[in-house]
Amino acid sequence: MRFVFMGPPGAGKGTQAKAVAERYGVSHVSSGDIFRGEIANKTPLGLKIKSYLDSGGLVPDDITVGAVAGRLEAPDCANGWLLDGFPRTIGQAEALDKALAKGGTKLSAVVDLEVDPEVIVERMSGRRVCKCGRSYHVRYIKPRVEGKCDACGSGLVIRDDDRPETVRTRLATYQKQTSPLIEYYDRKGLLLRVDGSGSPDEVRSRLFEQLNAFVSE
Ligand code: AP5
Ligand code: MG
Repeated sequence: MRFVFMGPPGAGKGTQAKAVAERYGVSHVSSGDIFRGEIANKTPLGLKIKSYLDSGGLVPDDITVGAVAGRLEAPDCANGWLLDGFPRTIGQAEALDKALAKGGTKLSAVVDLEVDPEVIVERMSGRRVCKCGRSYHVRYIKPRVEGKCDACGSGLVIRDDDRPETVRTRLATYQKQTSPLIEYYDRKGLLLRVDGSGSPDEVRSRLFEQLNAFVSE
């Protein structure tokens, strides 16, 4: 299976993508996580892209396509993958189409998680993250011990780009550069629209039900 997860910033892509990847036995590949890892490790790529993430704009297509393509060549992606946050521009989607055609494969489904703007702002303003990659919410997905990661015990922090002014830019960037992909994939008959409102469990059940029906058609 090869999935793409779309949706505005803070829609819950990462939260649901992990569960879907586990259920289908595929690797969860998040372009945002790849970039945050490079920034945390202060690699040459990390230094080059930091300003894009800080501003809420997109990393240029050539850099993004290269980083994701490299990740998809790893052995754990051989049995399938779920792309979370990629593609985000028509150019990236075309690059992905080309790579899939070259490998003689295609996408199984593109999930678009639909969530109202007020809910998005509430989800992002309450998000707390751990350096190990786990993500929580102060009201909806609480850690067992307040402020500490369940998995590694490290302190939870606010993600750098969850500041209100950056959130506004990220939402505008999504509208302008990423939302045209909804029609792009709809025309290919790959789009699955999923209502992302409600609790994480409610969204997961709805998503599993719709996705299962879609891929077995
Ligand atoms: P990226 O990391 O992809 O961020 P994003 O798309 O803005 O999305 P988020 O990760 O903020 O939200 P999410 O939808 O994963 O929601 P989550 O599950 O965490 O990208 C960051 C940056 O990297 C970009 O701005 C760009 O600069 C760069 N970048 C990345 N990919 C790129 C690309 N392809 N091209 C160019 N640049 C790229 O949930 C949010 C919060 O809500 C959490 O606290 C969670 O616990 C909570 N929550 C989740 N579901 C629910 C629920 N049902 N009810 C209540 N709370 C919930
Ligand atoms: Mg995410």
